[in-house]
Amino acid sequence: MKLWVLELLICPHCAGEVALVLDNKKSSGEDIIEGQLSCTSCARVYPITNGIPRFVAADENYAENFGYQWQLFSATQIDRLGGHNLSGGRLLNDTKWEPAWIEGKIILDAGCGAGRFADELAQAGARVVACDLSSAVDACKETSDNRSGHSANRGEVNIIQANLLALPFKPGVFDAVHCAGVIQHTPDPAKIMQSLPAYLRSSGRLFYNFYEKVPSTKFQILRNLLRLWTPGWEFTKLVTFSRWLCWVFFIPSFIMSRIRIVRYFNRFLPICSVHPSGLTLRQQFHLTWLDTVDWYGPKYEIRQDHKQVARLLNDQGLSEVEADAGRAWAVKQ
Ligand SMILES: C[S@@+](CC[C@H](N)C(=O)[O-])C[C@H]1O[C@@H](n2cnc3c(N)ncnc32)[C@H](O)[C@@H]1O
Ligand SMILES: [Zn+2]
Repeated sequence: MKLWVLELLICPHCAGEVALVLDNKKSSGEDIIEGQLSCTSCARVYPITNGIPRFVAADENYAENFGYQWQLFSATQIDRLGGHNLSGGRLLNDTKWEPAWIEGKIILDAGCGAGRFADELAQAGARVVACDLSSAVDACKETSDNRSGHSANRGEVNIIQANLLALPFKPGVFDAVHCAGVIQHTPDPAKIMQSLPAYLRSSGRLFYNFYEKVPSTKFQILRNLLRLWTPGWEFTKLVTFSRWLCWVFFIPSFIMSRIRIVRYFNRFLPICSVHPSGLTLRQQFHLTWLDTVDWYGPKYEIRQDHKQVARLLNDQGLSEVEADAGRAWAVKQ
């Protein structure tokens, strides 16, 4: 974490903007690597290890399956490490943010996982603060420390382990908030969606991506049945089980993906098949395996209706609210 990020931080447990005092044990230039942050009001101490301030207590972290998942698949979805353009293309298409606008902005990536979108935002020149509840933050750090394919005008990724329901930031400090694939995996999606806009400055941009409530989900019978047990499994069992499923169903899903109309039925297989064109079969298998783990691991999966999300954002007093299946945009007034 760079020193300047300290200006954004406050104690997440104290009412009011209580600043944190840094006791820096190890740094490298502007980067703080080891140390601790202390609250002058409640006397809580938040350690900084591996360059990451840690605001999460062990009993608060319900998402550790994600932590293991992102450490195992840390490079898979990172464009510049995986040799593809999956995350960058999706980021620009989904957010509708122009690369020229992103450059130089301070952007919160809320629920960053291994950091695929944080990395793309930094590649476009943003100063990103990437935050996650789980040890995915360490995978994100590994991503950002790996300099392979860095662009010339790259910004930076500062990583913080924190709960979106108790973020350690002052209000109104970000130019944009990006939150993709997270909301449905939290115990209280509405609360998360209502609280994040507070961190935007005036005219700051908000983007949410979430699992949409669609009727076909009810007919994913095998998947839904398996999910009754899989979130409680040991992670190694989950990964092995997902790989077995992929070995059995990947080739049928690949063939189905090549046939018009038939490809619709891929969603009823018990794997999350991913077959983008331009990727090798090996890459497709790896992505399918990762996304299958991502299906079966999360404790919470609470799908959202984008019309209700739009209403919620309007009720928050945001402007330019728009939503379509699985996505919502707004601007802070
Ligand atoms: C499906 S992953 C998405 C990661 C990333 N945004 C992406 O699209 O690649 C969901 C992430 O949300 C994180 N998460 C879940 N609940 C959270 C919370 N309350 N606060 C912060 N992060 C959370 C998980 O640890 C996980 O890394
Ligand atoms: Zn405090």
